[in-house]
Amino acid sequence: MADTKGAGQELSRRQALTAAGLVAVAVPLATRRQAPALVRRAGIAGAPGPEQVHVQFGADAASQVAVSWAAPAAVSRPRLRLGGASSGHGLEVQAEERTYTEALTGETVFTYHARLDRLHPDTHYVYEVLNDGATPVSGMFRTGPRGRSRGFRFTSFGDQAIPAPVGLGLGPWTANAGFIVPAVERLDPLFNLFNGDLAYANLSDVPVETWASYFNNNARSAANRPWMPCAGNHENEVGNGPQGYLSYQTRFELPDNGSDEFRGNWYAFTVGPIRVISLNNDDVCLQDGGFSAFRRDNVPNYVSDGDNPYIIGYSSGEQMGFLERELARARRSGEIDWIIVCMHQVSMSSAHFNGADLGIRQNWLPLFDRYGVDLVVAGHEHHFERSFPVRGTLPGSALLTPAPQGTDRHLMDTSAGTVHMIIGGGGHSTPTPVSDFDKPHDGVLITSVGPGSPQVQHPTITTTEPAPWSAYRDLKTPYGFASFDVVPSEPGGTTSITVTHYGAELGSPVYSRRDQFVMRKPLGRHDSHDRLAGAATTS
Ligand SMILES: [Fe+2]
Ligand SMILES: [Fe+2]
Repeated sequence: MADTKGAGQELSRRQALTAAGLVAVAVPLATRRQAPALVRRAGIAGAPGPEQVHVQFGADAASQVAVSWAAPAAVSRPRLRLGGASSGHGLEVQAEERTYTEALTGETVFTYHARLDRLHPDTHYVYEVLNDGATPVSGMFRTGPRGRSRGFRFTSFGDQAIPAPVGLGLGPWTANAGFIVPAVERLDPLFNLFNGDLAYANLSDVPVETWASYFNNNARSAANRPWMPCAGNHENEVGNGPQGYLSYQTRFELPDNGSDEFRGNWYAFTVGPIRVISLNNDDVCLQDGGFSAFRRDNVPNYVSDGDNPYIIGYSSGEQMGFLERELARARRSGEIDWIIVCMHQVSMSSAHFNGADLGIRQNWLPLFDRYGVDLVVAGHEHHFERSFPVRGTLPGSALLTPAPQGTDRHLMDTSAGTVHMIIGGGGHSTPTPVSDFDKPHDGVLITSVGPGSPQVQHPTITTTEPAPWSAYRDLKTPYGFASFDVVPSEPGGTTSITVTHYGAELGSPVYSRRDQFVMRKPLGRHDSHDRLAGAATTS
């Protein structure tokens, strides 16, 4: 469903000048380990150039985009030149420099972010990023359509890692972490939702190199279309900032969530008739997923600095408040037909891998029900599985097991409930083994954790449960991603998203179609949601 309509639209000179004034004004992120500001700038001759280039949407995908990159040393006059698809790079935007110091190695990482505003909807742009003395690096992006004006495609997966080992090879890697990039790119999606566990740098002895490998591998696609992330448990690099997210927060330029402290950890954006909400589940998950024995043993002053990767409850309800406000606003809007949540850990799983997390059921699912979230994309479990629409819980279920609404696995009405997808086969070297799946479709749930400390990972305590919510799972191809073809308006007053899962074997670059289903719902608002939303409170 690649669509080049609007490719000829370009910035007028006046519009370009207007956009030129809209340079990033992001709040620098602070950390107790931040290096002093005495930074040697690279000389003009032989200056390092931009690398790790990637694009992100702003809160309004039709008009706001940010381009981010990194450099191995501080550079002079980092900037972006913007143009239309067939015009030169006439507009220049200064980039903001943001740095952090990696707690494990003491390296300072230099990142650059150029924010663009007042762009035209549904329009191709080309850009170059550069600094004094460096060869420019070029890319392109397309802004989102306005409202229901046209259909588009997006893709999604999580748990990628990197395509080749770095350092001691402690972090996960596979060839598929490389193969998935051109496979996604071939489908020409408007954007990609990345469901957490990006580089797994928290397991690496060379985390800065790991991140560089991750971004340079993905730039083949992420420099040309937004790869919009959520933070998974492996983005928690204990020692890098209070919750370990300082690297993630510094490297991405994500829509503002109103919080300086938690900037980027959760956010939302609108693309066409969809409101996407990205969450950080470690705030509510029971499992101790951010623990890294390597960092415990090697981050200087780990004990004396009080480093602690177990961060459940860290936002003290701030994320919950954001989520409820976003959901209520989206549900009130006459222009939003689909609410999609991108998050990492899962609320249902039928594999004895990590298991689902009761904390998500307790905190998020009542809100998803109340405001009628249509779709959740997640990862963490390293396989593909999807649910029927779910709403409420099975009668009398102490485990809050979600209740399926419908039994048709090919056509689902999400006005009846939320479809959950696990798309965790991005490239990690440990896919969920087939032997980990229960028969027939028993769910696995983390209900609590055992004793632990900052030095000893809390063990998970799991139980099994019925899984009537499970609609489909792929037990054959461990690697894959999903594409979503959005039709904003259909004859008869409906809107639909056709979902296709592409799977590949280990070591194979061939991603073939494995599963397909359609989500369809009536256009417009729904009385049940409005009534419930009007009475909503969080507890
Ligand atoms: Fe993972
Ligand atoms: Fe994970």
